[in-house]
Amino acid sequence: MSTTTANLKGAEGADGAGGENEAVFSVRNLWKVFGPKAERVPGDAELAALSAAELRERTGCTAAVRDVSFDVRRGEVFVVMGLSGSGKSTLVRCLTRLIEPTSGTLSIDGEDVLAMDKSRLRALRRHRAAMVFQHFGLLPHRTVLDNVAYGLEIQGMSRAERRAKAAEVVAKVGLEGLEGRRPGQLSGGQQQRVGLARALAVDPEVLLFDEPFSALDPMIRRDMQEEVVRLHREEGRTMVFITHDLNEALRLGDRIALMRDGRIVQLGTPEEIVGSPADDYVREFVRDVPREQVMTVRRAMRPADADEARRGAAVAPDATVSEAIEAVARTGFAVRVMDEGRCLGVVDHERLISVVGGGAPARPPRPPRSPRARRRNR
Ligand SMILES: Nc1ncnc2c1ncn2[C@@H]1O[C@H](COP(=O)(O)OP(=O)(O)OP(=O)(O)O)[C@@H](O)[C@H]1O
Ligand SMILES: [Mg+2]
Repeated sequence: MSTTTANLKGAEGADGAGGENEAVFSVRNLWKVFGPKAERVPGDAELAALSAAELRERTGCTAAVRDVSFDVRRGEVFVVMGLSGSGKSTLVRCLTRLIEPTSGTLSIDGEDVLAMDKSRLRALRRHRAAMVFQHFGLLPHRTVLDNVAYGLEIQGMSRAERRAKAAEVVAKVGLEGLEGRRPGQLSGGQQQRVGLARALAVDPEVLLFDEPFSALDPMIRRDMQEEVVRLHREEGRTMVFITHDLNEALRLGDRIALMRDGRIVQLGTPEEIVGSPADDYVREFVRDVPREQVMTVRRAMRPADADEARRGAAVAPDATVSEAIEAVARTGFAVRVMDEGRCLGVVDHERLISVVGGGAPARPPRPPRSPRARRRNR
């Protein structure tokens, strides 16, 4: 699909040009096909071009991940989003070869994951990329503390050392006082915190989350999302986060890969995805998002004339349109977009309304590609 290629190129150009050390995971042309003689599918142009249903009919195979390429950059929250069955879990399990990819290349910190032997792979899963699952996967007969210490135990850490480390992490995720309980004596949210603590305890380079909060009720879910944002802010840990919930994706993601039928149909910041959907599918997906909470004034502004550049209320380039609306409503005038004392442009009533109404502002300036996009929907 041409839009996919264009989007990937746009988002990845800088990485390919020498920012190698910036990428934690680097994935190129990855396929996972389930079914008989799966390996013939990626290399066969005709089969590879079939829709999921046609492929299933012709070959009995399911292409869960199709020709996917992306980098997960150091320190970012990389969200994989898509409807049920779009290939999210398969893709993320391929990263540590919990599922064996059919073809393509895959590396972590420049090291070829597909070439790793059993012991390297075990080390990868235990130390470098820890997974937090939807159904917690806690050991029912163990206490909270021993569940959290479990990963350290299989690493061979001494009992005293691992219990000390576990206690530290238990406190970090807000479970102090519950160390001696068993999972059955905890609420769903508390159990999920134990799952999170267990993954954190091994101090992994990357945390992989497969829809960890989808079993939680909305309030607790919100709490856990804030917990993830907080941990990310405090520790800058790289995270890959699967969800089929758009709001969760927008809240957590620095960048979002939107999957459909095994392909990434768009990869970009929440603002790029909401502001410039790659195709009708994405447009439909983001239709109900309150644009003013996602779009920034950097995209909505227009050049300031000399007079406007000198006075008026000021907002930062990363301020949301919603924040600017407040400022315009308060002052009655256009608001300046200021960056280190420089006026980049202004947003007035008309620009702001056009964003809220869904009209793209005329020729929006290209947003900068920062690996640490700001967090939104605080
Ligand atoms: N072991 C398997 N054998 C055959 N097909 C599989 C296997 N695992 C997954 N699939 C198929 O691959 C596709 C992608 O599945 P996957 O679990 O990755 O989707 P998902 O996006 O995680 O969905 P959900 O949101 O429901 O968890 C689906 O069509 C699924 O039926
Ligand atoms: Mg899944």
